Amino acid sequence: MCGIVAYTGKKDNIKEILIEGLKKLEYRGYDSAGIAVCTDTQIKVSKKKGFIKDLEKELSQENFRSTTGIGHTRWATHGEPSDINSHPHTDCTEKFAVVHNGIIENYKELREELESRGHVFKSKTDTEVIVHLIEENFDGDLLNAVLKSVKKLKGSFAIAVVSAYEPETVVGARQDSPLIAGLGEGENFLASDIPAVLKHTRKILVLEDGEAIKITPGSAEVYDFDGRLRHKEVLQVTWDAEAAEKSGYEDFMLKEIFEQPDTIRNTLRGRIKQDGFIDLSSEIKIGKNILKKLERIIIVACGTSYYAGLVGKNAIELFAQIPVEVEISSEFRYRPILAEGNVLVIAITQSGETADTLVSMRMAKKVGFPVLAIPNVVGSTAAREADGVLYTHAGPEIGVAATKTMTAQMVALYLFALYLAQLRNRIGSEREKKFIDELKRLPELVEMILSRKEHIKALAEKYAGFDNFLFLGRTHGLPAAYEGALKLKEITYIHAEGYPAGEMKHGPIALIDENFPSVFIATAGEVYEKIISNIEEIKARKGKVIAVATDGDTRIKELVDDVIYVPWTFEVYTPLVTVVPLQLFTYYIGKIRNLNVDQPRNLAKSVTVE
Ligand code: AGP
Repeated sequence: MCGIVAYTGKKDNIKEILIEGLKKLEYRGYDSAGIAVCTDTQIKVSKKKGFIKDLEKELSQENFRSTTGIGHTRWATHGEPSDINSHPHTDCTEKFAVVHNGIIENYKELREELESRGHVFKSKTDTEVIVHLIEENFDGDLLNAVLKSVKKLKGSFAIAVVSAYEPETVVGARQDSPLIAGLGEGENFLASDIPAVLKHTRKILVLEDGEAIKITPGSAEVYDFDGRLRHKEVLQVTWDAEAAEKSGYEDFMLKEIFEQPDTIRNTLRGRIKQDGFIDLSSEIKIGKNILKKLERIIIVACGTSYYAGLVGKNAIELFAQIPVEVEISSEFRYRPILAEGNVLVIAITQSGETADTLVSMRMAKKVGFPVLAIPNVVGSTAAREADGVLYTHAGPEIGVAATKTMTAQMVALYLFALYLAQLRNRIGSEREKKFIDELKRLPELVEMILSRKEHIKALAEKYAGFDNFLFLGRTHGLPAAYEGALKLKEITYIHAEGYPAGEMKHGPIALIDENFPSVFIATAGEVYEKIISNIEEIKARKGKVIAVATDGDTRIKELVDDVIYVPWTFEVYTPLVTVVPLQLFTYYIGKIRNLNVDQPRNLAKSVTVE
């Protein structure tokens, strides 16, 4: 997720206007930033790795004035953070510049075609293909050149383009990435999100997929990609600036929980090929022969990422039939590593900077094990030190508690497990196709769960007063139980334990009474009857029970105090659909207890020390 802004109008302090707009979008990405402005007959670009304030400092030495320009704050997806990979990107003639938010899936083919026609690329980004296409398609009209070019793109994009040939025009276009226009008096704006323009105007046009826009100081015209003019309703925004940064959500945590249908789509994007199967080889860069010969996999991670690792274990063992050990990094790093056999180490780390996980990776490499990192932050230490990388593409997560990045980790692990199974001929194409098709359904399943937020909020109100909880599950249900307990602890400061339901009778059931509620992961599956028995044991001791169960399960409703229903999916995917209601449940309890859910006490977003 990146932030783009654009301006054309009567003011010539373009640097300040663009930088100010970018600062309002910094939550969308902050590994590099840049601007491009139209001055006389040329495009002037200033961009660099680092925060927007670093760019601002560099620009303070510049004294160019201009009334038209574009800006970008980056969250790298393709091409690690660096000056040259920063946006804006220019064409061979330096007469066009583009900024982009999204992922161009077919950028490799387009780049090969363009290079074969003599174009010279400067960066490693997917974005740069766009500006060379525009250069090639320009025949005197910038809008037409953009319309011809975007039709060749596959994937997601929100772009803004300027040209030295039309120094008062900015052209934008959107497909699967947000783009809005701000309408002023004698000036107009484009941006990824409303906060960037709110200081100047509250009159907003929201572009839809397949729409382009041409703005000049006195006009703003919207077209479809075939060049047909479109009438758009002008919205009057009433949000204040802070609410706008959270897209109207009260907290970043809630916004990020509700982003999950889109972030899951982004994790899947470009990884299920035209033939319907998965090919990760160009990303993972660990040889297929190595993967085919694997005898064991060790997953190292901490916290929520460790629980995602448990999901990965279940999926890899089910699909690829390779034994998987999941290790807490802070434990793994102090144990002798058994350097025998063909082993792959997978490091799951959202930040890519967790000290214990980095040390575990280095230990693995030292004994010659290949390391695959699954980070969210492009260019992070884990990404740079691993032999192969599979990014989660969930965009920056501002809330300290992991929500969207965990479900993105699960999807990345499902993709990898199916890819491994295919490589090792452990799964027939029919069965693989069935699981891949269900992967594509996950975003809409999460949307269905999010639509039930009011019921989950009501349960939070009912249970917010308790001081202890157990979260219980079996097999595929256990990782979500662990994660639900962690979320409750870190968001509400209520004591909670995740536990294998089958272990209750070995001690923990002594805790149960009417003041000690239990949350069960009780979705349809092989161990459902066992879970029912565990619930009955708890009920017999007056324990309150909330069950997370499968739509249509009326039987469980008779047994427990409350049910949170989730749509049916394959058992191996249930961790993803069951963790989402628990994220909401803990969020709402945190709000009821008037806690800072975005920055819980004592916690940091990334634990870069032991
Ligand atoms: C998540 O809610 C926690 N804040 C924390 O456990 C986190 O998952 C853990 O610190 C691992 O972080 P990483 O994924 O960046 O390595």
